[in-house]
Amino acid sequence: MLMPIILKSRDEISTMRESGRILAETLQLVGERVRPGVIERELDEVARKEFRRRGVIPTFLGYQGYPATVCVSINDEIVHGIPGDREIMDGDVVSIDLGCTYQGFVADSAVTVGAGKLTPEARRLIEVTREALWRGISAARGGSRIGEIGASIQTYVEEQGFSVVREYVGHGVGRQMHEDPQIPNYGTPDSGPVLKPGMVIAIEPMVNTGGWRTKRDDDNWTVRTLDGSLSAHFEHTLAITEGEPEVLTLP
Ligand code: MF3
Ligand code: CO
Repeated sequence: MLMPIILKSRDEISTMRESGRILAETLQLVGERVRPGVIERELDEVARKEFRRRGVIPTFLGYQGYPATVCVSINDEIVHGIPGDREIMDGDVVSIDLGCTYQGFVADSAVTVGAGKLTPEARRLIEVTREALWRGISAARGGSRIGEIGASIQTYVEEQGFSVVREYVGHGVGRQMHEDPQIPNYGTPDSGPVLKPGMVIAIEPMVNTGGWRTKRDDDNWTVRTLDGSLSAHFEHTLAITEGEPEVLTLP
């Protein structure tokens, strides 16, 4: 299906700024809750209540039948874990993905936090994935090609001895959660469309300590590493400008 890339007006970006700020503050609340002994569902509840209090819509809830407000993906789970009755354990690598819709505009962001005492490898995975996102953001300038984002992410991650997930990618975002173009976290700098001011995109590297291949659980949502290695995920929504992009999902 061919969808034109949607450019946002200044007014629309102002609304997205507000959507992004609400999302970032809520995601921070949820992230602060992560510690050993907490039940996944409690994280969903924190997000749901905060969204209700602020009058924004939980974008994920009901999306293609998705049954929750947040995604909670632990250890070898990469993305789209459904929060359930599982207890978070000491040493867990916990990825939280969240989206909200404010006045019709979607913001999308994810963080990975550790619960209790992490192994040195788990700590390094989280730091490398966070840095990979920021390298991708720095490459997202008006006039550059989308491939430059993935190339800078992949180069950095592989230098660090980790791998980048291929089957799931970033995306345009705004009027809908998933708009064109796709934003891969890998590839060559001379590929993809040219970034233009007014484009709003979500960059979301998923990084594994082992190989990049994935599998999906029988629940048809939870995506995990094929080899059982650890995975982390960070995501920001940002607006493309003439120069440095404006990150919309900072608290
Ligand atoms: N943040 C995810 C993405 O960018 C969306 C989660 S899928 C949902 O694709 F079903 F939970 F909404
Ligand atoms: Co996303």
